Amino acid sequence: MRRDIAELFELDPTLTHLNHGAFGAVPRSVREAQDRARARIERAPMRAFRDDLPVEISEARQSAACFLGLPSESTALVRNVTEAVGVVAQGLGIGPGDDVVVSTHGYLTAGWTLEVRGARLRTAAFDVDAGPDDVVAAFAAAVTDRTRLVVIDQITSPTALVLPVAAVAAAVAPVPVLVDAAHVPGSLPGLDVESLGVAFWSGNLHKWAYAPRAAAALWATPEHRESLRPLVTSWSHGLAYPERFDLQGTVDHSAWLAVPEGIAAWEALGGWEQVERNAELLVHGAEVVRSALGTPDPLGGIPSAPCLRLVALPAGVATTTESADALWQQLYGAGFVVPPVAFGGRGYLRLAAAPYNDEDDYRRLAEALPAVLAR
Ligand SMILES: Cc1ncc(COP(=O)(O)O)c(C=O)c1O
Repeated sequence: MRRDIAELFELDPTLTHLNHGAFGAVPRSVREAQDRARARIERAPMRAFRDDLPVEISEARQSAACFLGLPSESTALVRNVTEAVGVVAQGLGIGPGDDVVVSTHGYLTAGWTLEVRGARLRTAAFDVDAGPDDVVAAFAAAVTDRTRLVVIDQITSPTALVLPVAAVAAAVAPVPVLVDAAHVPGSLPGLDVESLGVAFWSGNLHKWAYAPRAAAALWATPEHRESLRPLVTSWSHGLAYPERFDLQGTVDHSAWLAVPEGIAAWEALGGWEQVERNAELLVHGAEVVRSALGTPDPLGGIPSAPCLRLVALPAGVATTTESADALWQQLYGAGFVVPPVAFGGRGYLRLAAAPYNDEDDYRRLAEALPAVLAR
């Protein structure tokens, strides 16, 4: 790990952390800002909930919108992307008799959130090495005359691909599209949500924008905003979107209050230059691991995310969820935090690159893998 940067975080220094994408990691300065926010509330809870929180949450929400390049009236704070999926499903009144499209690369909680409402999931299937046209065709083929919503990951969770969201949205129109952009804020340069041609977009701020968990942004086009309501009905009830998402009863709002500090940490760590440095490190690091394993590059025509990348494991390794799980435990036992992924009958490692990583992290993993795999 890069010691100077790792010192800004509170990660266990005895482990090699190559999985920033999963749950993020909160810099100390951000955790302290959240602690201060909690302490302020505890000094005078009545005043905090009545008078201070509405103002402070509104400021945090506006800083998130500004960071994402979005007008403040378009963007609400929610806790995480899965909550945003629930909000959208509720707003559209999705239920029995409706079809919803997800993909084989989609994050499972999004599909489950729609399924528990009684919707039927139809799945767009494509391989890791597919091209953009295959992705568009797979989504278009999954749409029926009962489809009420298409959910697409902008960066896929298991496979770290950057999907062609705008082309898919154009192909499935007029069905509304919800973009699961959990990994996008702070990690995907050139983001222009409003040009994607989608109805809804939601991204976590607690992965690559260094906010505390749980903090996410939900954006919607003007025609959908009126129908969107928070899942917890509380004292913001009578307000317009997005203010009506601000107060969620007596939950802990401190993660939202520390969003501006998370964004400040992202900037202090180098902003987009830092992302570019991580992307180069990851291409190189993945190649080091891949050549140690002697496996082919799994990628085809879809670009990999700047911050996350797959390396294929040898044939027969981690090809099921159970064997991927067992390998995860073995790697963890050897001091490596890196997720094996079983996808389409193959096993992969999903590597991340965060500011605290350096070349040595990937080299040590490459050196340790033969012994771990031999067990
Ligand atoms: C594509 C995607 N969606 C959603 C999530 C997480 O969901 P949530 O933030 O709702 O816990 C992840 C987490 O890694 C993800 O990769």
